[in-house]
Amino acid sequence: MPANCVAPLVDREALGGAYFLLTFRHPETAREARPGQFVMIKAGVSAEPPLRRPFSILSVDAARETFTLFVKAIGQGSRALCAMAPGDVAQCLGPLGRPFTPPPAGVEALLVAGGYGVAPFRFLGEELRRTGGGTARLFYGGRTAADLPLLGRLGGRGQTLVPVTEDGSLGERGLVTVPLEAHLDAAAGPVRLYACGPDAMMHAVARLAAARGLAAEVSLDPWMGCGIGTCLGCVVRVQGEDEPRWKYRCACTEGPVFDSARVVWPGEEDSRARRAGGGAEEGRR
Ligand SMILES: Cc1cc2nc3c(=O)[nH]c(=O)nc-3n(C[C@H](O)[C@H](O)[C@H](O)COP(=O)(O)OP(=O)(O)OC[C@H]3O[C@@H](n4cnc5c(N)ncnc54)[C@H](O)[C@@H]3O)c2cc1C
Ligand code: FES
Repeated sequence: MPANCVAPLVDREALGGAYFLLTFRHPETAREARPGQFVMIKAGVSAEPPLRRPFSILSVDAARETFTLFVKAIGQGSRALCAMAPGDVAQCLGPLGRPFTPPPAGVEALLVAGGYGVAPFRFLGEELRRTGGGTARLFYGGRTAADLPLLGRLGGRGQTLVPVTEDGSLGERGLVTVPLEAHLDAAAGPVRLYACGPDAMMHAVARLAAARGLAAEVSLDPWMGCGIGTCLGCVVRVQGEDEPRWKYRCACTEGPVFDSARVVWPGEEDSRARRAGGGAEEGRR
């Protein structure tokens, strides 16, 4: 069950640029969170800004009753969080949302991350290691080297790390899907894909999975006002199994993790309606 309570900041680490690691004390999230889940959080106890913001859980420490976020400070809410000092408090609701489905035994997990989308994969990688759940390969992409500040804290112990930058300043040069595709071409065993990052990247991963008949999950990143299914600010278009048309679904409660083959990606509305034998009529809740 998610818990709504005041969470003190216990540790803050600046990683350079706009990136920070923030560790909060929140026993329920530390104890119950699964990889892919998130918290709704805002700095302080005042009414401004009114809404909390969603952040994926990077890691948990049940013994210390803490969880850690990887935050890129880009606006009012995230900057206020990153400006907190240890001892300051935040308002936090979590853990929330549907987590990733772990890969079946013997299936390699291919984790595809863009920018701060790497956050849930640190947690998923740790979980796979802890449970002996098989090997993982993390493709970690960004525009430039400065966009990969978590690089030194990922991979190792049975997990392969593939850094990729668009400008070639670190790792392979190009889009993160290029080495992913090369790996898929060469992979001998079964794989399962997981993606979190910019929409265009997740759409590209969804296309690769569809073309090869592979299972893939994506963690969508819409605006979220409440995190509990009441404001409808986070709706995304998803077509359930055996449903003739897509419906709007709350990413906060039914996601943020969805089967990539069920998501209606921009520009794919017509083909989806044709496959279902109908017109491109809008879905209804
Ligand atoms: C499930 C989920 C998990 C997330 N996990 C992380 C995480 O681990 N680390 C992290 O740094 N961020 C994460 N985010 C994004 C984070 O919630 C936003 O950056 C945050 O809401 C911005 O709030 P703000 O008040 O700082 O910025 P605002 O003032 O609200 O916005 C500043 C600028 O950022 C843009 N923006 C804000 N939110 C988004 C968004 N969701 N997608 C695209 N553009 C946006 C706005 O258009 C605006 O230009 C996650 C979002 C979701 C939905
Ligand atoms: S964020 Fe309010 S319904 Fe999902």
